[in-house]
Amino acid sequence: MSRKKITVVGAGHVGAHTALWIALKELGDVVLLDIVEGVPQGKSLDLMEASPIEGFDSLVVGTNDYKATANSDVVIITAGIPRKPGMSRSDLIATNVGILKNVVEGVVKHSPNAHLLIVTNPLDVMVYAAWKHSGLAPKKIMGLSGALDGGRLRAFIAMELGVSMEDVHAMVIGGHADEMVPLKRYSTVSGIPITQLLPPEKIDAIMGRTKKAGGEIVALLKTGSAYCAPSAAIAEMCEAIIRDKKRVIPCAAYCDGQYGVKGMFIGVPVVIGAGGAERIIEIELDAGEKKAFEDSVKAVKGLIDELKF
Ligand code: LAC
Repeated sequence: MSRKKITVVGAGHVGAHTALWIALKELGDVVLLDIVEGVPQGKSLDLMEASPIEGFDSLVVGTNDYKATANSDVVIITAGIPRKPGMSRSDLIATNVGILKNVVEGVVKHSPNAHLLIVTNPLDVMVYAAWKHSGLAPKKIMGLSGALDGGRLRAFIAMELGVSMEDVHAMVIGGHADEMVPLKRYSTVSGIPITQLLPPEKIDAIMGRTKKAGGEIVALLKTGSAYCAPSAAIAEMCEAIIRDKKRVIPCAAYCDGQYGVKGMFIGVPVVIGAGGAERIIEIELDAGEKKAFEDSVKAVKGLIDELKF
């Protein structure tokens, strides 16, 4: 069986670390593409030189040419500018929509059957733009939101309780923005709802921290945004496709009436497998959760409407 091919567009911190996780998991061979000459080549060579030490056989090549990405199975798009302190994800919109259009056209021309996984912010809008510019079926396009935001929430719960990260599960839906919707009722430790393990004010503090967790890192780093957790989370989604795992991961997926949303991408729980976003799972939301989700949808829709696709 021949190996799968995974392209990562953007050789910044997120892109390079995504290539690293993918190589470590041996999901396939990796092409790292960037417009800056030398950077994808240098980072790829550096990764190849780590392969005998870590013992992975994935080949990693760097390029500035979309031709080298031909016939990719999955393309992960991280290209774009990141936030600086004080910026919201939506402040990036004009610059990143322009970058994304070029990238998607370059990618689809050479890999018309690829799954697209989007990391570029503002996330939910970029996924929509990728869909519009690619002409691909919506289930072949997903964006990184709940895998990352839920990962952060899981870390905060495990840190607070002093329990293994492995046993903590958590669900964050809605847009990948400060209006995201962490769901305490669907967050558990080995099946035990966290509402039985933590006082309400602690839970509220953890949920609030989760919503602003990306900004917390931006404020600390001062020169860019998070990359370890984002790259690990997108590699997890890539693995679900490549290994047809049918993982249930919340991410920005195309809703066609689910959760009352039609014709746009927003964070919802999705069964991810070889078919991409194979199925959206509709969980029951109480009145407060529904209102928070609807507000999040409205915020994303507002940004999309401004772009006038
Ligand atoms: C973050 C960026 C990747 O949440 O959106 O850190």
